[in-house]
Amino acid sequence: MTSAFSFPTAILFGPGSSSALPGKLRELCVGRPLVVTDPGLAESAPIKAIAGLLQSEAHVFSGVTANPTEADVEAAAEAYVAMNCDGVIAVGGGSALDVGKVLRLRIKRPEKRLAEFQPDFGWAPLPRFIAIPTTAGTGSEVGRSGVIILNGRKRVIFHPALLADLVILDPELTVGLPATLTAATGADALTHCIESATSPVFHPMCDAIALEGIRFIHQSLRIAVANGSELEARGHMLLAATMGGIAFQKDLGAVHSLAHPLSTICGMHHGTANAMCLPAVMAFNAERKPGLFQRVGEAMGLNDPTDDSVIQTIQTLLREIGLAPGLAARGVKALQLERLADQAWEDDCHRTNAVPVTRDDLYHLYELAM
Ligand SMILES: [Fe+2]
Repeated sequence: MTSAFSFPTAILFGPGSSSALPGKLRELCVGRPLVVTDPGLAESAPIKAIAGLLQSEAHVFSGVTANPTEADVEAAAEAYVAMNCDGVIAVGGGSALDVGKVLRLRIKRPEKRLAEFQPDFGWAPLPRFIAIPTTAGTGSEVGRSGVIILNGRKRVIFHPALLADLVILDPELTVGLPATLTAATGADALTHCIESATSPVFHPMCDAIALEGIRFIHQSLRIAVANGSELEARGHMLLAATMGGIAFQKDLGAVHSLAHPLSTICGMHHGTANAMCLPAVMAFNAERKPGLFQRVGEAMGLNDPTDDSVIQTIQTLLREIGLAPGLAARGVKALQLERLADQAWEDDCHRTNAVPVTRDDLYHLYELAM
């Protein structure tokens, strides 16, 4: 059997690393970049810092919504053309990064609407793209896809040409992230690492990266939540989120299938939804595949880890960062579980879960997570 691996993104990491941006733009021959972000960040310290570095060359589009739509991409592409830009810098969480990535398709082929996107077209090269995450969770900075709502439905636009030319992981840009968002986005990164490390898909490079990501998160997520200006912990979380994003090239599992409908039907934050479902799915998986979490426990530095001790450790971590399990306490009603389970079953992530799941298993897992 043949497996394909690739880890090509250039990454700059470290407190203050964003100060390298002007030089990197020159290297990439970008003279008029469009900075893409969301309205919540438009007046924030990270955007002011980036604008300060770019000086007169700063052209900012701050119209990205929380669940970005085709209209967001269109507006960003119009701003790019109107300001005569020649590259994109996306600054923010997954939404800003996804819009920044995808708008370049509209620049390359303005005659094609996003709904007409064809993955088999030769899209490369797209305009240059630099991704600067200000949250540590989605891993979108190293992804080859963007999630955009087209005609009322979430669509994953995937193409290798969407990959960033450069990722800048500057922990100083994440210190303003509130504790609740630090916890929720961190739980997303943790779930990416655990699900990819235990998925049966063969990808040993992803496994190694996921396990190191778990080590960073176990060491640093509590500290980043308790003290947001702790730069070492912030840095570890940024690295772990990026590593989770790389690792889940290998694919995810049932936690993400359960989490997606909790966002679309119940409006729950994606990271929070993962945190609510992670312990129940881990217990379900371990029961059917004993020893599954031994390497996860070793990555967290546990002595003679067992599945139970690993699940306990994860539960304690989630509780300590304010994400104790309990869907009911977060407004999910028992009457919604059938619909949630139907949607979770339609979600492809569970197909690469550590063990096979049925639609009824997913329903039962929601019950356990209530
Ligand atoms: Fe996720």
